[in-house]
Amino acid sequence: MSTPPMAPANPRVLSFPDWMRNVQAEVEASLARCLPPGEAIPGRLHQAMRYASLDGGKRVRPLLTFAAGELTDAPHERLAVAASAVELIHSYSLVHDDLPCMDDDVLRRGRPTCHVEYDQATALLVGDSLQSLAFELLAREEFGDSHRQLEMVRLLARASGSCGMAGGQAIDLESVGRTLSQPELELMHALKTGALIRAAVVLGGLCGQALSIPERESLDRFAKRTGLLFQVVDDILDCTASTATLGKTAGKDAASEKPTYVSLMGLERARELAADLRAQALAALTVFGERSQRLMELTDFITQRKF
Ligand code: IPE
Ligand code: IPE
Ligand code: MG
Ligand code: MG
Ligand code: MG
Repeated sequence: MSTPPMAPANPRVLSFPDWMRNVQAEVEASLARCLPPGEAIPGRLHQAMRYASLDGGKRVRPLLTFAAGELTDAPHERLAVAASAVELIHSYSLVHDDLPCMDDDVLRRGRPTCHVEYDQATALLVGDSLQSLAFELLAREEFGDSHRQLEMVRLLARASGSCGMAGGQAIDLESVGRTLSQPELELMHALKTGALIRAAVVLGGLCGQALSIPERESLDRFAKRTGLLFQVVDDILDCTASTATLGKTAGKDAASEKPTYVSLMGLERARELAADLRAQALAALTVFGERSQRLMELTDFITQRKF
């Protein structure tokens, strides 16, 4: 008698580290497929796009997209495309963030930054091209319902532009050497980092069956709190972790006189704030019951991460 084929592993019974590794591998493969090959003309630009996007990063935004997708039984193919689109925007934002006219960083993900490995003009074009590719992905793939697909495009566009990530980066640059009030700092963080994290979560939810309006509101509340939490932890790590652990230059915020939660309220209160934001994020998930297990685990991962 022949052995029956093995049932596919149920993603809900995987341990969190195994689930995370699976999603990271799926996203890596999806990005590798959708980025133009390094041999395609213009080769140097395409190689730099791949350098900036592949083989590095925690993939927190794609993990959030996949975890939110579990609330709506979203198909993996759609989640992989939506997660890749968000990650391309994130990679673009890092390439530009590291340029000499912005944070002037030479190390990213344990390697020379894109403009150091290539050159500034190439890094600028890498950002431009990754951004365009992200929208090409969302527009090209079939998300089932064209109204929903348009909503996804609009959502990612808004999260990336002057009312989202790029706007937050503008406030960040204007704020060097200034002391911001807590609401001003919260706005800067909510835009420069929070907006894209929020989009990653909401897009994941939109990839599957429709959520009720109260569920959508709860998911959005979770996403906002988590986005802010992510940047508060980034501020804490900048002044507590080493360059070797972070894979990027430690201590840059203080050296560049950037307003951060640590400079505003000190390390201990910044840690307390992170704990409060974690609790608020988890509270927003209670309506989903055990369907939100991965989102809860990710919230803890974001809070406790070491890099
Ligand atoms: C770093 O983001 C930049 C911020 C928005 C704080 P990540 O910490 O997600 O960077 P990677 O993708 O893991 O390298
Ligand atoms: C970067 O914030 C946010 C974006 C890239 C949009 P940071 O400047 O704090 O990020 P790191 O610390 O360089 O990764
Ligand atoms: Mg910056
Ligand atoms: Mg930076
Ligand atoms: Mg930082």
